[in-house]
Amino acid sequence: MRRKPRIAVFASGSGSNFEAIAEAIQSGELGADIPVLITDKPLAPVITRAERLGIPAAAVNPKAFPDKAAFERTVLARLRDEEIDWIVLAGYMRLIGPTLLGAFPNRIVNIHPSLLPAFPGKDAVGQALAAGVETTGVTVHFVDEGMDTGPVILQREVPVVPGDREKTEAAIHAIEHELYKEALQKLLAEEQSRV
Ligand code: GRF
Repeated sequence: MRRKPRIAVFASGSGSNFEAIAEAIQSGELGADIPVLITDKPLAPVITRAERLGIPAAAVNPKAFPDKAAFERTVLARLRDEEIDWIVLAGYMRLIGPTLLGAFPNRIVNIHPSLLPAFPGKDAVGQALAAGVETTGVTVHFVDEGMDTGPVILQREVPVVPGDREKTEAAIHAIEHELYKEALQKLLAEEQSRV
């Protein structure tokens, strides 16, 4: 039997998207394995979620390396050890450099809380509120060398609750958790149909 695709999630913060993906994998909803969580923040709350889910967390602190390439080589060694097929960014607050992009061509995906190309970069929800738009959304996209610029895989609209960051963010998170699963299901199904 063919082995399941192996996913490494990268996260820097709370990790609610990591948890949604991990639960979908552990329940069998998503046909993949998730052998490791990578974080660049040794104290990130996502590590506690990983412990609860029984998923090993590798904290690799970029400050311990002379440059991004050296940092990414260490991350890459762990990904190779784990025979990772896909990198899934979920609140990973760092641009991916040439070392990882070259090692995983078209195999790194990200989720962003806006309808890209609108509101890229930090605080997309704050940007949408400040712009006064009625509708924002969520995008899952392939990662390239830019900031939130790679080809779109799936997008879904989310209404802005005017002047209410908390409610808008909660609505976005709820959609994110569903959309990321759908996007990964789509990618894995497409890959399976190619082999
Ligand atoms: C999400 O809004 C995601 O779109 C953005 O960072 C946030 C991460 O949230 N890239 P969480 O850590 O998964 O809860």
